[in-house]
Amino acid sequence: MGIKGRRSQEIHDVVGIGFGPSNLSLAIALEEHGESTPGRPVTSRFFEKQPAFGWHRDMLLPSTTMQISFLKDLVTFRNPLSRYSFVSFLHASNRLVQFVNNQDFFPTRREFHQYLEWAAAGLADRVSYGTEVTAIRPVTEDGGDGPPDLLEVEVRDGDGTVRVVAARNVAVSTGLVPRLPDGMGGHERVWHSSEFLSRFNERDPEELRRVMVVGAGQSAAEITRFLHDALPHAEVGAVIPSYGYSIADDTPFANQVFDPSAVDEYYFGTDRARDAFWRYHRNTNYSVVDADVIRALYQRSYEEQVRGTRRLRFRNLTRVDAVKGAGDETRVVLRSLLDDTVEETAVDALVFATGYDGLDPARLLGGFDRHFERDAAGKHRVERDYRLVSSSGMTCGVYLQGGTEHTHGLTSALLSNIAVRSGEIADSIVLRRTERELDRAGSVRKASSAA
Ligand code: FDA
Ligand code: NAP
Repeated sequence: MGIKGRRSQEIHDVVGIGFGPSNLSLAIALEEHGESTPGRPVTSRFFEKQPAFGWHRDMLLPSTTMQISFLKDLVTFRNPLSRYSFVSFLHASNRLVQFVNNQDFFPTRREFHQYLEWAAAGLADRVSYGTEVTAIRPVTEDGGDGPPDLLEVEVRDGDGTVRVVAARNVAVSTGLVPRLPDGMGGHERVWHSSEFLSRFNERDPEELRRVMVVGAGQSAAEITRFLHDALPHAEVGAVIPSYGYSIADDTPFANQVFDPSAVDEYYFGTDRARDAFWRYHRNTNYSVVDADVIRALYQRSYEEQVRGTRRLRFRNLTRVDAVKGAGDETRVVLRSLLDDTVEETAVDALVFATGYDGLDPARLLGGFDRHFERDAAGKHRVERDYRLVSSSGMTCGVYLQGGTEHTHGLTSALLSNIAVRSGEIADSIVLRRTERELDRAGSVRKASSAA
């Protein structure tokens, strides 16, 4: 493995790291900006480590639905006339009429995935798949020791070759990070929900006779329902830390926390206001389940009771204490919060649907991270335009799509606001480029009048 060149010939205005929905939306915003100002396009390049476009593929379970309206697509809230809207996709797929007849604001995740793939295909010339960004370094274009004005982005291709591309800005959009409770990983029969379908499909279903799902969020409930359908011979256990699944509040007033205007209110609000957002509205998204999935699970359980053959078992107020590999067996230790009793049981598969940590740019920035300011809680300070606040006067920028819950609120890791956020980032990149060029022109004028 060797580095092909210190710097590519071209300096991109922006390099996007990751090509999930957030950076796909940014790529479209930049393209549409270019169309409105021909001659001064913003040059961009995106790198995605997956071999092809994919959005949480391992959770594309049958009949799971989106948790946002189809109108909160990649573009509509920013530009309702965009050709990359969900409605355009339906039209191109000859399904617009049928979609309307179906009268459902919430498409299946499978259909939304088709939409995202269709949009990604329209921008294929800007993306390199199968390439992982491994480092970012600040440099100066003239090689001097002034504040950095350029970023070197190290990219590893599928064959292991490492090359470096240069950019004025990067947009970090590497997504959520799967979270397993400490010390529970490393067993063949223990999976995280983020890898569910791949791991499930590797196994012979006949061998899966005792399966268990940990967690009381949307992932846990969907996987429990799936396993109950897919393994009619199996005992399906659900380990729920609460008394029962709680409903995801998607009623209209609460849903306003995902409005574009709520981002300003959160960002410029007091600490007490930000705290209230979380205290009152965490249940719009975390550790909650859509009502239809809750009802489907309860109905299954009740039918089993009526039939007198129970294989779906909910262990409420229970947490996992430990996972043990014992010879050929995997055993899970469950602790009831009711009476503190401990039960140990063998499982053929144990799925931790225990959620995710937010994007943390420090993982990618490495030593470069020390250029960025942190708040009193140790979290990155982020400008309203999603740019990390730097302490070294650098003119190049690191933008975040994700990892900004503490500054911009609940939409940070969701799709609800990506159309607007991408537009704001695109505008910021263009504005700061203009300011930089004016500064440079001003310095040249000053130097020549002094001469
Ligand atoms: P996302 O995780 O989608 O994409 C990040 C990309 O970066 C990945 O493709 C990854 O491979 C790539 N990458 C990571 N590191 C890299 C590197 N170093 N170099 C190159 N590439 C790299 N939200 C919502 O609003 N409505 C919904 O219905 C749902 N549904 C939903 C289902 C499931 C199962 C989950 C887990 C989550 C959701 N979400 C959601 C929330 C989810 O965060 C959101 O839908 C998007 O995935 C956010 O898009 P991003 O592009 O930011 O991240
Ligand atoms: P989540 O909402 O964070 O839920 C994680 C669950 O795991 C919580 O119930 C949590 O309990 C529990 N948990 C954590 N550690 C545990 C432990 N040691 N023992 C027992 N339980 C433990 O995660 P998620 O369900 O993966 O959802 C993440 C995001 O993806 C959300 O935005 C969700 O809406 C989205 N999603 C969407 C879809 C869809 O669109 N159809 C599908 C799946 C997920 P505590 O509350 O006690 O922490």
